[in-house]
Amino acid sequence: MAAVEVYEGAVDKGLEGVVACTTGISSIVDATLCFRGYTIDDLAEKSTFEEVVYLLWHDRRPTPAELATFRKEISQEMILRPEVVKQLQSLPTKGVHPMAWLRTATSLLSLYDADSQGIDEKAQHRIGIRLTAKMAPLVALFERTRTGQPFIQANPEKSIAWNFLNMMFGKEPDAETVKIFDVCLILHADHELNCSAFSARVTSSSLSDIYSAVTSAIGTLKGPLHGGANEQVMLMLKEIGTMEKAEAWIKEALANKVKVMGFGHRVYKNGDPRARILRTMSEQITKKVGEAHWYEMSAMIDHTVQKEKGLLPNVDFYSATVYNSMRIPTDLFTPIFAVSRVSGWLAHIFEQYSKNRIYRPRGKWIGKEGLKI
Ligand code: COA
Repeated sequence: MAAVEVYEGAVDKGLEGVVACTTGISSIVDATLCFRGYTIDDLAEKSTFEEVVYLLWHDRRPTPAELATFRKEISQEMILRPEVVKQLQSLPTKGVHPMAWLRTATSLLSLYDADSQGIDEKAQHRIGIRLTAKMAPLVALFERTRTGQPFIQANPEKSIAWNFLNMMFGKEPDAETVKIFDVCLILHADHELNCSAFSARVTSSSLSDIYSAVTSAIGTLKGPLHGGANEQVMLMLKEIGTMEKAEAWIKEALANKVKVMGFGHRVYKNGDPRARILRTMSEQITKKVGEAHWYEMSAMIDHTVQKEKGLLPNVDFYSATVYNSMRIPTDLFTPIFAVSRVSGWLAHIFEQYSKNRIYRPRGKWIGKEGLKI
């Protein structure tokens, strides 16, 4: 029997340092993150989530008239049709992870879209708007269903951030909370070739449809080494319980080679710019709701992990206490990540279609050879 062809190339475990494609969507240079050339700090301070979505998809900021049209298209698509609501309300929620439900719900939406298989530019725009608009109502629908409350449809006059908070809590949110939530959506919108964006690109590289690519990405975001880390951060803070126990708890975890969630990054070695912005917001909002201890405990953990292991916080660390202060249930932190990141996945899917070649790397053979029955 002929010997198995052995691939002689180097193996980069986790594809570290591998440049898999060219991209013009977001860039990371040292500790600076840019979307289409604008720094994340600038966008967080002066933009809105809807404007950032337009920027990610069109490679330029919208004019006021373009933004108004774009917002209108999104708000119209935020409404869920009654038969879709009914179908989704019939799905199980007890003992179900919200990300598993969201993955299923997103896939299910494609069955109610007669043109779901289109991948041309017109279809990209239509399905892109549809999926970006519907992610927040889906997460709110999950929460309202599992808590036995009726679904609240979106208000087409309002933003995604406003609507999400209103649909979740059944109460009009205050302007400050909406602003903080909108900034969170901006910060999470895209992040170069992260694990879930790559997953979306791999699926679309087979020229599969947009719903399939976004569904793949949701499944990838779910994992605790990626988007699932924000949920784990809050669970860790609750487990530690008090400020006094934080330092010893972290030291013991590190000594036992346990990963402290919300720290470390494959690309950022000098700090994640999103974490800096979120740290300030965490300090403000925890104080506002009378729970400054969560921020103080986080700051102590941040100090200890840096001192003991030289690792800096990533986007998931301080976002946990921000969402917790908004009274968002801990297991919805990762679905909220998807509410924002869907816009970045779509930008990657569109870019992939525009200059596609199927992803097909090699695996280096290390198994048995020449066996006979
Ligand atoms: N806590 C403790 N140690 C950590 C750590 C963390 N959060 N992140 C990395 N390390 C350590 C690893 O144990 C390893 O140490 P070693 O060399 O002594 O074995 C070293 O740092 C390199 O880590 P590694 O897991 O190989 O890095 P990676 O580039 O493959 O992974 C992450 C990057 C983000 C997945 C990783 O840092 C991690 O798991 N972080 C926690 C999960 C998280 O917050 N994810 C969200 C990312 S935005």
